[in-house]
Amino acid sequence: MTKTMFLPLLLLLLSAAAASTSVSTECTVSTMDDYPVPVRREVYGDGRIFDISHRYTMDMPSWERKDGLGRFLWLPASMKNGSLANNSLMKLPTHSGTHVDAPGHMIDSYFDAGFDVDTLDLEVLNGPALLVDVPRDSNITAKVMESLKIPKEVRRVLFRTLNTDRRLMFKSEYDSSYVGFTTDGARWLVKNTGIKLVGVDFLSVACEDHLVSAHLEFFESREIILVEGLKLDDVPTGIYNVHCLPLRLLGPALLVDVPRDSNITAKVMESLNIPKGVRRVLFRTLNTDRRLMFKKEFDSSYVGFTTDGARWLAKNTDIKLVGIDFLSAACYDHSVPAHLEFFEGREIILVEGLKLDNVPVGIFNVHCLPLRLLGSEGSPIRCILIK
Ligand SMILES: *[C@@H]1O[C@H](CO)[C@@H](O)[C@H](O)[C@H]1NC(C)=O
Ligand SMILES: *[C@@H]1O[C@H](CO)[C@@H](O)[C@H](O)[C@H]1NC(C)=O
Ligand SMILES: *[C@@H]1O[C@H](CO)[C@@H](O)[C@H](O)[C@H]1NC(C)=O
Ligand SMILES: *[C@@H]1O[C@H](CO)[C@@H](O)[C@H](O)[C@H]1NC(C)=O
Repeated sequence: MTKTMFLPLLLLLLSAAAASTSVSTECTVSTMDDYPVPVRREVYGDGRIFDISHRYTMDMPSWERKDGLGRFLWLPASMKNGSLANNSLMKLPTHSGTHVDAPGHMIDSYFDAGFDVDTLDLEVLNGPALLVDVPRDSNITAKVMESLKIPKEVRRVLFRTLNTDRRLMFKSEYDSSYVGFTTDGARWLVKNTGIKLVGVDFLSVACEDHLVSAHLEFFESREIILVEGLKLDDVPTGIYNVHCLPLRLLGPALLVDVPRDSNITAKVMESLNIPKGVRRVLFRTLNTDRRLMFKKEFDSSYVGFTTDGARWLAKNTDIKLVGIDFLSAACYDHSVPAHLEFFEGREIILVEGLKLDNVPVGIFNVHCLPLRLLGSEGSPIRCILIK
């Protein structure tokens, strides 16, 4: 078997190029009768961050389908039916919604050779990007590309087209008259620009009449990354930092080593002396040494927070993001009560199953982007640290 290809889902953010790092963590508003209502945001920090990924819904368009994506999320284990936790199951074509293409998508030998989404360069997927408006009366031909006069040094361009005006990504029925690159448009880009990340606002970068041939122009060199199905409405044209991770942006995080002889109790938490003001901490534990995330068999003796450890963190620190190196932030014996301590305030986000081996202890920018799964209580995530 060859490796799995293509990236499933991808979440993507734009932030103003000269950004500071504080991000609001307000995640709910309270109504009069105190039923909390979640805020669903597209724009954060007063327009400093734009979420340009579409949320996954049953009615979103799917390639060549009349009736949209359809059901992709189930709740096989639910609290209403006696389970300890709600736990969704997801099944989704990898090229659904906002997504990225790897070279193996249309070049079989690249597929066989393993050019999958895991090999895509995060350097290309993260950095300054230009958002441009394309003339509305044409597909993206060589002539159109030339007319855009994109400076040579620009490496990432998001093309907003008639697709956004026509709201094609909000229609269940797939519309083959969408705008995309023609073959000569794609070739012109490859030959005459330094662009390595091409973003478009419908499911395919190539217009339907040039579907394969235009893709091949891009894939050939394996240097260009295609990001499709972007949500570019209401974003001003201009220069941003784009963060494009097969998975929301957060700021600095501290990676700490936890003593190896204990679960994460109140006492351990206290001993770590994490300064006030630190909002994101990634806890590396015995789980990493034991390589538990690399073992097939689930091991319930993993290290995690005890109930008093979780309560201590919630009460005595400013930590809003808790990262851990196994599948649960709570140790097995305190699975539910420790989670409840974290969830109660609805302010703390748990990121579980991190791969923290061989990362030096210290301060990083953590970029953690969950998929926009409407109605799901969890999501696979792509998480990276940047020094
Ligand atoms: C768990 O799932 C049920 C659906 O069975 C839902 O009504 C309930 O609100 C969920 N509970 C939580 C804590 O998310
Ligand atoms: C709970 O179980 C009942 C009976 O097995 C089933 O009909 C129902 O769909 C289940 N509900 C959820 C949310 O799983
Ligand atoms: C773009 O090309 C498609 C066919 O691939 C066509 O249906 C559509 O009308 C074209 N759009 C424009 C604006 O020319
Ligand atoms: C952590 O707690 C689990 C039970 O939840 C236990 O099996 C494990 O041995 C404990 N680990 C340490 C290092 O104390």
